[in-house]
Amino acid sequence: MGNPCLLLKAAPVKVFDTFELHCLIQDMEDTMRHMEGAGIAAPQIGVSARVVIFGQKEEDQHQNTRYPDADRVPYTVLINPVITPMGTAMEDGWEGCLSVPGMRGVVPRYQQLHYAGFDPFGHPIERVVSGFHARVVQHECDHLDGVLYPMRIHHLKDFGFTDVFFPNQDFQDD
Ligand code: NI
Repeated sequence: MGNPCLLLKAAPVKVFDTFELHCLIQDMEDTMRHMEGAGIAAPQIGVSARVVIFGQKEEDQHQNTRYPDADRVPYTVLINPVITPMGTAMEDGWEGCLSVPGMRGVVPRYQQLHYAGFDPFGHPIERVVSGFHARVVQHECDHLDGVLYPMRIHHLKDFGFTDVFFPNQDFQDD
């Protein structure tokens, strides 16, 4: 947080299935794994492009013990995403972020939404999701518009250090 790249509106990907795009996605995946994140967006590694990654591969499911209450979100590379909320219902939930290390805050998000975008080969992706899956997608897509989750916190009393709020718990960040 503080890096100007995180405040930019990221540029759409124009050409799919390129060496450059696959390298970017590999870099993002390596970073997310290394930092044990639940998701990551390209601006978080200094690339202002509309690419996000979230969820877990099947072989990483053992990591679910870190997030026992969350439904498993399938591993997804989503490019040029478009989010459309379904209804107006919002839900408060705790979030963290790889770009705001060691902290968590309560953020309101749409409970249910439709999202569309493309995979790295340019094949369309379209889903209707709710709950934790919907939260992760909203958090990651915010990164593409220069929005970090602390900007969405309603009450700053609900923002603080993870080890103060949750002294005995282990969390993934996005
Ligand atoms: Ni984040």
